[in-house]
Amino acid sequence: MAPRKRLKLAVIGTGGMGSGHCRTILDKIPEAILTAVCDAHVPNAERAAATFGVPMFTAVRDLVKSRLAEAVIVATPHTSHAEASIACMKAGLHVMSEKPLSETVGKADRMIRAARRYRVAFAVNFQRRMDPVVQAARAFVDRGGIGTLYRAVMIAPECRTQAYYDSGTWRATWKGEGGGVMMNQAPHIMDIFVQLAGMPQRVRGTIATVMHHIEVEDRAEAMLTWANGATGYFYCSTNEPLPGQMIELFGDKGKLAYRDGKLECWQYQPAIGSFIRKSKEAWKFSPECKPVKLPVSQSQLEPSGSIRNFVRHVLFREPLVVRADTALGSLELANAITLSSWTGREIRLPVSRTEYDRHLERMRRTSTFRK
Ligand SMILES: NC(=O)c1ccc[n+]([C@@H]2O[C@H](COP(=O)([O-])OP(=O)(O)OC[C@H]3O[C@@H](n4cnc5c(N)ncnc54)[C@H](O)[C@@H]3O)[C@@H](O)[C@H]2O)c1
Repeated sequence: MAPRKRLKLAVIGTGGMGSGHCRTILDKIPEAILTAVCDAHVPNAERAAATFGVPMFTAVRDLVKSRLAEAVIVATPHTSHAEASIACMKAGLHVMSEKPLSETVGKADRMIRAARRYRVAFAVNFQRRMDPVVQAARAFVDRGGIGTLYRAVMIAPECRTQAYYDSGTWRATWKGEGGGVMMNQAPHIMDIFVQLAGMPQRVRGTIATVMHHIEVEDRAEAMLTWANGATGYFYCSTNEPLPGQMIELFGDKGKLAYRDGKLECWQYQPAIGSFIRKSKEAWKFSPECKPVKLPVSQSQLEPSGSIRNFVRHVLFREPLVVRADTALGSLELANAITLSSWTGREIRLPVSRTEYDRHLERMRRTSTFRK
């Protein structure tokens, strides 16, 4: 039986992801009702309206004026997330934006400020945060399982074909997407990485276009330094197929390895610092290192989980799993690595918004790339 209270939800951008969201709302979210779709490309709007049996709009302002929706999911290309989201927030609509929040931290800041100003809920679709394994990793770190962080690594291989990049004019251009693998394919794992390791303080990075005919990066690498002196390595690309996705954290009290979706954790007895300083044994190479059995909920990761959480947050104040202000970190890191590569300098976080915007604007203005 459908619940008595249902949220009137519209989807803006009805391409691959947006159409999927419409289907999800209809089939999997009993607390929501799909009331409209909006797409700037008329055939896409018409197709979605016909498929899902709801009114269509081709401009966000008309959707807003219609008062058909109390909340929206924004699934347009990243460069228009900010404009669409802020227009809805101003009218008091709650917003879930697709990842990444935007292509620049400056625009993302404005989105977060607007949500506060207009007092609306604002979520980001980082659905992997709902994964029980990720939640168990987070719980281990939050209860001090790692202790003081010494080292963190993120390796994120993925593979995309040239045909994938050619499938949309906006894809893999500075103007249309504002970045490459760090803007589109890697944000989920980057989000998990910064949630677990915390934000580094300094970044020295390089971006490169290695195997595709695109103008943005298909590979990014960086050396990271945290405020406490911990160091780390970062790699992601769309040139290298899975498996091999991993996050490793090593600290005074323990170690965490999240590899291809599987989690292993260990704790040291005594802590490493104490073992190194105080042990009298010349040929003992490790303190006691105990595998930690973490309670992982058996529930499967449901792609609908993040949307349902957003809906239930608006209706029933269920705690929001991906509040937008907590989703800025992966974008901050992406912008920092890109800026470091463009300037040849180590970048201190938070990234200078004006400097990043100036460089991105120059890349866009001077682009001669043709698809
Ligand atoms: N959470 C995830 O796992 C996940 C997966 C894939 C894509 N995404 C995100 O979803 C977003 C869309 O990606 P996609 O693959 O669906 O792209 P897409 O090209 O398939 O669809 C984008 C749609 O937005 C429409 N559009 C463009 N500008 C618009 C505007 N200003 N107003 C209204 N409609 C507009 C286009 O006409 C198109 O129909 C991206 O930000 C991407 O990063 C998230």
